[in-house]
Amino acid sequence: MEQEKRGQWGSNFGFLMAAIGSAVGLGNIWGFPYKMGANGGFAFLVVYLFLVVFVGFAIMLGELALGRKTGMGVVGTYKTLSKKFAWVGWIGFLSGFFILSFYSVLGGYTLRYSLGFILELLSSGTGFGGMGSGEFFGSLIVSGGTNLLYHAIFMSLTISIVMGGISGGIERFTKVAMPALFIMLLIVIIRSLTLEGSMVGVEFMLAPNFSAFSEIGFMRVLKTAAGQMFFSLSLGMGCMITYGSYLSKHENLEKNAMIIPIADSIFAICAGLAVMPAVGAFMYQGVEGISFGQGPGLLFVTLHQVFSVGMGGFVGNLFGFLFYFLVFIAAITSAISLLEVCAAFFIDRRVEKGLDPDRKKLTIVVGFIVFLVGVLVCLDGLGSGVAGGAAIDPPGVMFGMKDIRVAFGSWLDFYDMIAEGIFMPLGAILMSVLIGWVLGTNVVKEEVELTPDVQLKAYKFWEICFKFIVPIGMCFVLMGQLDDFFGLGIF
Ligand code: PFF
Repeated sequence: MEQEKRGQWGSNFGFLMAAIGSAVGLGNIWGFPYKMGANGGFAFLVVYLFLVVFVGFAIMLGELALGRKTGMGVVGTYKTLSKKFAWVGWIGFLSGFFILSFYSVLGGYTLRYSLGFILELLSSGTGFGGMGSGEFFGSLIVSGGTNLLYHAIFMSLTISIVMGGISGGIERFTKVAMPALFIMLLIVIIRSLTLEGSMVGVEFMLAPNFSAFSEIGFMRVLKTAAGQMFFSLSLGMGCMITYGSYLSKHENLEKNAMIIPIADSIFAICAGLAVMPAVGAFMYQGVEGISFGQGPGLLFVTLHQVFSVGMGGFVGNLFGFLFYFLVFIAAITSAISLLEVCAAFFIDRRVEKGLDPDRKKLTIVVGFIVFLVGVLVCLDGLGSGVAGGAAIDPPGVMFGMKDIRVAFGSWLDFYDMIAEGIFMPLGAILMSVLIGWVLGTNVVKEEVELTPDVQLKAYKFWEICFKFIVPIGMCFVLMGQLDDFFGLGIF
């Protein structure tokens, strides 16, 4: 009865589209290519895939199993499973809250760029005020009013989908959006691969080359890949616990726990194949301002340049629109899951008390609070000094904070440091300790085997992962993140 009130996925396909939608986001289309660009291309890819198998699969399975077992969101799940670990649920909740508050501002940028390319299609010079890519981005981040407007639109869209409920809102949207996203991505990949000189980019990604290990350092590559992996898979903050809690006992958890990371990695590689060959092609053709290792500016500066100057004209504007709209879809399907993590806490509380969940009202209220917290991100120009933040030149320190030059240069950096930097790796460490050392891996086995005719296949593998590989690996990520944020110079 309670489960009926909370809602359930209509089908396993619907669940998978929502979960893959959560995983595939700015992390794949933005973070993955730029981090790969800055960390040696192929070497980074290999380390990344290795981590997905030995760390990602296990955290995914653990989260899905715990969520389905308790039938509650992240806060309720930890509270039910262990008094000592109850607070871990809160760090998950807060991570979702903080990530969404800046994710929505960045999602708003993708809307602005989509609109810009549409306007350019209609009349040249109207979409980006006749500015070059760097100049436009510089002016956008300091336009508080514009940022607020797009943040508000993005957040309203996210709220309107989550309000519709699990099967009637989230599943209905992602079932259409994810296949559409994949098709759009394929179209962009084909265009990108058929540009003159595109093989420069393909080679950078796929030609075996491990020189990065000696040039950049193996530990640095490993640390960056590990941080990217768990953010990209939406792990460590209870998002998959929450999505797992709406899953029926008839669905095979072990299989799902592998499908989601594999699909996410395919999307990340596809995003790399959409971006790198285009960047490579225009580097090869000598277009100004384009290179692989340009860091976080890749999405909004380099790629804007690729479409508006590299490709140029009607085709450039058309593909520019297609690409940024695709990024918008990827971002909103992730934002939905972040909002659901937060809303589920309040919904669970009402359901526990036997009350009507009141999903619509709660979603609006929670979404509005997230919006308010994001206002600070809109107004400080990403640390460019508009609201008294430390001046950073160029003002392009963004998402992931990996290239931060000034500690806490912006609110975005600060929220990101709390959530991605500390809470998420900590959440992953504690979840694996809870399963591996407190409850025992049997808790996962029992939950998986509730599904008729299903047996947990790789018990030993999971046990080793929960007990040793995940906690050790994640401690490493945590250290790496702290090292980055505070510039400790450990790695
Ligand atoms: N996985 C998303 C991305 O790659 O952009 C980000 C994210 C979504 C992180 C949901 C965490 C989460 F719970």
